[in-house]
Amino acid sequence: MDADKPLKGRFITLEGTEGVGKSSHLEALAEHVRAQGHEVVTTREPGGTEMAEAIRGLLLSPELPAMHEHTELLLMFAARAEHLQRLILPALARGAWVLSDRFTDATYAYQGGGRGIDAQRIASLENWVQGDLRPDRIVVLDAPVQIGLARAGKRGAADRFEQETVDFFERVRTCYLARAAQDPYRYRVVDASQDLETVRAAVIAAVADSL
Ligand SMILES: Nc1ncnc2c1ncn2[C@@H]1O[C@H](COP(=O)(O)OP(=O)(O)OP(=O)(O)O)[C@@H](O)[C@H]1O
Ligand SMILES: [Mg+2]
Repeated sequence: MDADKPLKGRFITLEGTEGVGKSSHLEALAEHVRAQGHEVVTTREPGGTEMAEAIRGLLLSPELPAMHEHTELLLMFAARAEHLQRLILPALARGAWVLSDRFTDATYAYQGGGRGIDAQRIASLENWVQGDLRPDRIVVLDAPVQIGLARAGKRGAADRFEQETVDFFERVRTCYLARAAQDPYRYRVVDASQDLETVRAAVIAAVADSL
């Protein structure tokens, strides 16, 4: 894709720790935006294309031996490069709204906050892989870690991240909130401990000024 070509669509991401409701609210948000007459593409990270989903398999598999944190970081950005070039940028260029269940904020939160990789290192990969592209709006679903883990736990077998400690997720949550506090226009924090309907309305309100 030509990075200089203006992008017409909107790029919205949903973020937050395990089980806060990202996947549940992505579809509701997509329906709402479609009802306003926009083309909507829903996707997720890591993943979103066949190749990136294959990389997701490596990243999440609890059967593989532990990978070095640098491998994990680079695989996240390898999957993201594929996702951006083949799905996100073409969709934005034709004017679609792209709604993604996680994006680069998750890398800062999990590989940065969680694993302890320096944010500058992540930023250099972000600049390299994404150029100037950043989400137009990042909706951070925030809830106490235990609430999300209890919700996610009902789903069955835990992936490689879901097996992490509560301390790990506390650092992830802290990182999301710190990033949101630095840029209150681009980020919106939604209290995800509320009931589903209240959270759904708050997520829709969080993108209303983009519509
Ligand atoms: N506000 C809520 N109140 C009650 N249950 C909820 C709420 N939000 C989500 N849930 C339930 O919690 C579970 C996890 O939600 P969901 O899968 O949407 O979270 P997620 O953020 O996508 O999780 P993950 O990070 O593991 O992908 C689902 O069963 C969902 O129905
Ligand atoms: Mg999910």
